[in-house]
Amino acid sequence: MERRSFLKAAAASTAVAMIFDKRTAWAQQAGTHIEILVNEPIATIAPEIYGHFTEHLGSAVYDGIYVGENSKIANQQGLRSALIDKMRVIKAPMVRWPGGCFADSYDWRDGIGPRKTRPRRTNFWTDGFPASLQKKNIPQVFDPNEFGTDDFVRFCKLTGAEPYIAGNVRSLTPLDFDHWVEYCNSPRGTTTLAETREAAGSPDPYNVRYWGVGNESWGCGGNFDPEDYAVEFKRYTAWVPSYGVPLRFVASGPNSDEQAWTRGFFSKLLHGQPSNDMKGVWGFSVHHYATNLSRGKTQDWDKEKGDALNFDPIDWYELCKETDRIESIILDHWTALGEFDLDRKVKLVVDEYGPWYKPGTENGPEQLFGQQITVRDAVATALSLDTFNRHADKVGMAACAQLVNCINSLFLARGDKFATTPVFNVFEMYAAHQGGTALRSEFSSPEVRYDRDGKPASFAGLKGSASLKGKTLTLTAVNPDVSQPREAEIVLRGAKAISAKALVVAESDIHAHNTLEEPEQVKSRAADVRLNANSLSFTFPPASVVKIEVQLS
Ligand code: AHR
Repeated sequence: MERRSFLKAAAASTAVAMIFDKRTAWAQQAGTHIEILVNEPIATIAPEIYGHFTEHLGSAVYDGIYVGENSKIANQQGLRSALIDKMRVIKAPMVRWPGGCFADSYDWRDGIGPRKTRPRRTNFWTDGFPASLQKKNIPQVFDPNEFGTDDFVRFCKLTGAEPYIAGNVRSLTPLDFDHWVEYCNSPRGTTTLAETREAAGSPDPYNVRYWGVGNESWGCGGNFDPEDYAVEFKRYTAWVPSYGVPLRFVASGPNSDEQAWTRGFFSKLLHGQPSNDMKGVWGFSVHHYATNLSRGKTQDWDKEKGDALNFDPIDWYELCKETDRIESIILDHWTALGEFDLDRKVKLVVDEYGPWYKPGTENGPEQLFGQQITVRDAVATALSLDTFNRHADKVGMAACAQLVNCINSLFLARGDKFATTPVFNVFEMYAAHQGGTALRSEFSSPEVRYDRDGKPASFAGLKGSASLKGKTLTLTAVNPDVSQPREAEIVLRGAKAISAKALVVAESDIHAHNTLEEPEQVKSRAADVRLNANSLSFTFPPASVVKIEVQLS
């Protein structure tokens, strides 16, 4: 971080710390209740909801994941060991790659075979770098293709995640897509591509199940309209050889809440009729970035973004609101999908989400879209994950954008320096939900009220979700209020608690974040939960993410 921004951020954080000090005698707020209906299951929470996304964008792959086999940085066949270890801690279930917008300019053949012979290509994002870097031969700008399909699948195997590959619809053919599937999945000793894979050290097929059919096909993925894209979708997915692997195709969805795309796509695909046969669509991709912190002043993508570090409590609440739009986006597309999908087979795949700020806090000019990650981003990420849990019947998969050195990253890395971010803490806590049964839970709490440039505004007082796995009930929630704790009574309907414990991410400074130099500023901490005769009591600290694990009798 530049010294100037650091000083600004430090000044802002002192101001907030003073607000906290004045309220050390916080009035305990009555009226916050959580009711968990243990006998009202929603659906199983697909572990893949806790997935990740990485793209050949800035230092997300090169220097982030891939450091090279000859690097002094600890690595496994070129892959950063520290990252692999931490991915296992959060039980990462799935990783999406190679993009993003990059996917629709990527030729997978460039990334296979001996590394020495692989071509160097202009990256999709080359023009996005500062002018001083645009002509520099560095891997972030001109992709050496040292990291390709074999490396990605190896990364997935080492981390325990399942690969999700996004295909190229804009600039490669359906046959190229078929051949990529063939390279990954054809059995040992069958096809020429299986032999090529074996020569690269992988005789056994990769059995990749998840395939994205383009990315943001309404934009960087080809500027299609939904009807034209439906035609392309059929060409890319009809009769792709499966080699016994049940392929799960993810169709490119709308720009945020644009339901016209959803209706246009399915209408064309299904000849305007609702159907039991969804023509190969397993998932429908939805992207939502929380970007607009202009308080309603502009919708301009370049001007609306806020600062990752230098923000006030109003910016905090505005980010919570922007993030929380994901719930109505999910409901709107689910409604639109329901007009076509008679059996409700198609799942929503939120494969890009997170807060996105303006440039200025990245760890170096080559880290395009890199940003610092504070406790505010932990709260925003938890809001999204709780939403996915509550809609476990609709959301089949999700991917936080992006894993390392990018938008809402869990990890920061540069050279031999490596740090986790508060978003990592959230994924570590929330891993307990993976594979659990989402339970209906009702949160009732006084709203947060704030002044939005002279006009009253509000946000929910407490939001969260609950799930059950065996005799363990997991409740997660955020208290978005930057200064007020929420003392809550938690009632379990249909079950009895015998013990409970909590983990909390909360810092007195809402700007708290880890840096490469100071990687241990934000930590999750244990907290006590009171067990009463018929309920539990817990005080959710201000600006916090909380997990409560309850053992049932
Ligand atoms: O995550 C960065 C970019 O945002 C992705 O490449 C694209 O899909 C989205 O617009």
